[in-house]
Amino acid sequence: MPRHQHERPAGGWPTRDEAARSILFSPCALGARVARTRAWVPAMVPWRATDDGHVTADVLDWYGRFADGRPGVLVVEATGIRDVPSGPLLRAGDERFVPGLSRLVETVRARSGGRTLLLIQLIDFLSIKRRPDPEKYFARFLEVESRHRAALSEWLGDDWPLSAPEAEVRGRIASLGEDALARVLSPRELESLRMGHRERVTDVHLPHVRDLPRHLPDLFARAASVAARAGFDGVELHFAHAYTMASFLSALNVREDGYGGPREQRARLPLEVFRAVRAVAPRELVVGCRYLGDEVIEGGNRVDDAVYFGERFARAGMDFLSISKGGKFEDAKQPKVGHAAYPYTGPSGHECMPTVHIDEVGPFSRNVPLAAAIRRAIRAAGLSTPVIGAGGLCSFAQCEGHLVRGELDFVGAARQSLADPDWWRKMELGEGDAIRRCKMTNYCEALDQQHKQVTCQLWDREGLDEPGVTRSHDGKRRLVPPPWSPRSG
Ligand SMILES: Cc1cc2nc3c(=O)[nH]c(=O)nc-3n(C[C@H](O)[C@H](O)[C@H](O)COP(=O)(O)O)c2cc1C
Ligand code: SF4
Repeated sequence: MPRHQHERPAGGWPTRDEAARSILFSPCALGARVARTRAWVPAMVPWRATDDGHVTADVLDWYGRFADGRPGVLVVEATGIRDVPSGPLLRAGDERFVPGLSRLVETVRARSGGRTLLLIQLIDFLSIKRRPDPEKYFARFLEVESRHRAALSEWLGDDWPLSAPEAEVRGRIASLGEDALARVLSPRELESLRMGHRERVTDVHLPHVRDLPRHLPDLFARAASVAARAGFDGVELHFAHAYTMASFLSALNVREDGYGGPREQRARLPLEVFRAVRAVAPRELVVGCRYLGDEVIEGGNRVDDAVYFGERFARAGMDFLSISKGGKFEDAKQPKVGHAAYPYTGPSGHECMPTVHIDEVGPFSRNVPLAAAIRRAIRAAGLSTPVIGAGGLCSFAQCEGHLVRGELDFVGAARQSLADPDWWRKMELGEGDAIRRCKMTNYCEALDQQHKQVTCQLWDREGLDEPGVTRSHDGKRRLVPPPWSPRSG
């Protein structure tokens, strides 16, 4: 495989006057609110919450630091809508999360001087188990059925497995090589053995999966109420990547209960969730979603599906559509034994957070054409819903170009904002030469993969001994970028 390396696009940094005249730094309506600029920081999980989903001082520091850069919109990380343990991921599934989330809102208000709209991304996900030790899998998890006995008997050319004691059959299956296992186990069992067991929205034999359409609208609505009470300006419904709602939208969703199959049925639950949220949300709460312009996986949605969903969502009254790409479990790399699969390790994952090594096209503006196609279709339908794109956006020239050409309404920059949260403000002040530019090599994403506190290689070893610097658990990295002060005072 050739190893590609791409130069970052020229910054084209504006003077202060040019920034003031730019579209990037002009206002844009977002539902009942107006964002001061078209600078958008998409959701990024930093692994800073407590194990029971509460806001910590480190969470406040993290979002406060993004607010220093005064983006038009800042989206808080994927936050669980259910009141169940989910590791150090924020949660919004109960009233008791309101005080912590309110502090987060107050911090961002204060640090941005009230210039940044704050949204929170709401997520539901199904269970995924770690890849099992094969010995344990065969001893404990595999349920030996008559089909296993028949397949084993056929493979061995011997009838003994048909009537042998279960332990003997189990033991023999455990000793099979890869080819034989592929004949004896079902594809799902093989997947559970090789990747770890993963629930799907099509597992309708499981009552809690069958009943998702009955429960999810209320669960999302309750979390949105919590967010509204905490003072957020809006919520972003997470309909993207590897999670429950994206799986309902997926072409792989073949549920036969009216919530799968043809596109209009796959859009049904996401629309019911939206309506339930809108019904409880105060009028001024911005409600939109993030979903995929292309799932990238075999048999998954392509941009024509995304255009269809975009029109449906816009017609239903969503306040914005934020477009991402890929990030699925279906093509994820096999995890090590004892680890869970991570949806950003396969081809679809690489499209979601593209690096400079991806291919000859490179990461910069890579996913904008998907968002642009959706925006074109929505405008052609006479709707004005703002569309946000992301993926390798890291220079003024790039961002302004997409806005001028009418490809996007907001420019989403996740990793560039992590590399330098002040980059928006530096551009606005005509100090673009001071911007610390993202290398797009995904050191941060590797930390996310290990559920380690996310930091950036460009600043996490700087000034470690300065007073007040908070460090990662291993003491080796600072948790937020060093402060910056404008030359212009
Ligand atoms: C550390 C990290 C955590 C992320 N967490 C989320 C998340 O919680 N929700 C989400 O929709 N996307 C998440 N993403 C994806 C980003 O929002 C964004 O779509 C992606 O990084 C591509 O944009 P970029 O090229 O500007 O970084 C994450 C990305 C990174 C690097
Ligand atoms: S760690 Fe690398 S990819 Fe991530 S924000 Fe920093 S420079 Fe960019």
